[in-house]
Amino acid sequence: MSSWPEIVELAPGAFHLRRCLPIDAQWALLRRCRALLDGAVPAYVPVVRGGGRMRVRMLCLGRHWNGKQYRYEPTRSDFDGLPAPPLPEEFRALAREIAASVGMSLDPDICILNYYDLRGQMGLHQDKDEGERALAAGVPVVSLSLGDAARFLLGGTRRRDPVDTVRLESGDAFVFGGPSRLRYHGVSRIEPGTAPPELDVTGRFNLTFRQYDL
Ligand code: SIN
Ligand code: MN
Repeated sequence: MSSWPEIVELAPGAFHLRRCLPIDAQWALLRRCRALLDGAVPAYVPVVRGGGRMRVRMLCLGRHWNGKQYRYEPTRSDFDGLPAPPLPEEFRALAREIAASVGMSLDPDICILNYYDLRGQMGLHQDKDEGERALAAGVPVVSLSLGDAARFLLGGTRRRDPVDTVRLESGDAFVFGGPSRLRYHGVSRIEPGTAPPELDVTGRFNLTFRQYDL
C-alpha cells in the first residue's frame, strides 16, 4: 500500500483511506481480480432469499457466502456446488496491512470480490454473517475499490439511521470495525468513465476482506 494514504475517520471505527493503493499496485490487483472472476470457479450473479437478483457479479474466496441462506460454507451449494477458491496469501497480507494502518487487527480468511458494471448497485445491508465472536469483537471489514468511482452509502447500526454518501475512487480503501462494524452500507451508483485511464477498465471491482472467527 502507499505510505501516504489520506485517512479520514468518518465515525469511530469507520475509516476512508484515500489513495491507499498506488496505480501500479491497482493494475496488478485488477489483473488478478479479472483472472479470478473468469477463472475455473467463475463469478456469478447471486439470487438471494426472496428471489431478487443482485446487481453485481460475485466471487467469494476462502469461504462462500450463500445468499439464499445468509451463511458461509465451503462450497457453492446455492449455485453450482463448486468449492470457493482459496484466498491468495498476498491478498490477506494487504488487507492485514490496511487494517493495521488504522490501528485495527484483522486476519482475514474470506474475500468477497464483486464486479459492478455501470448499472451495478448494492442495497443497504449489514455484514453480519461472520462468526458471533468476530462480530462482537468488532473485527473490521476492509474494502478496496478499483476502477470507476462509486457512491458508497454509510448509515448507522439501525436501518432508519441517516445515511452519508462517500465517493470511493480507484485505489481507495474503506475500513469499518469496532463500534462501526455493524453499520448499514451499500452502493447507490457507479460513476461511468471515472476510472484512471491507465487501468483501461469499465465498471468497478470491490474486494471486501472479512475474518470469520477469532
Ligand atoms: C459490500 O458491502 O459487500 C460491498 C461494498 C462496496 O462495494 O463498496
Ligand atoms: Mn457489505
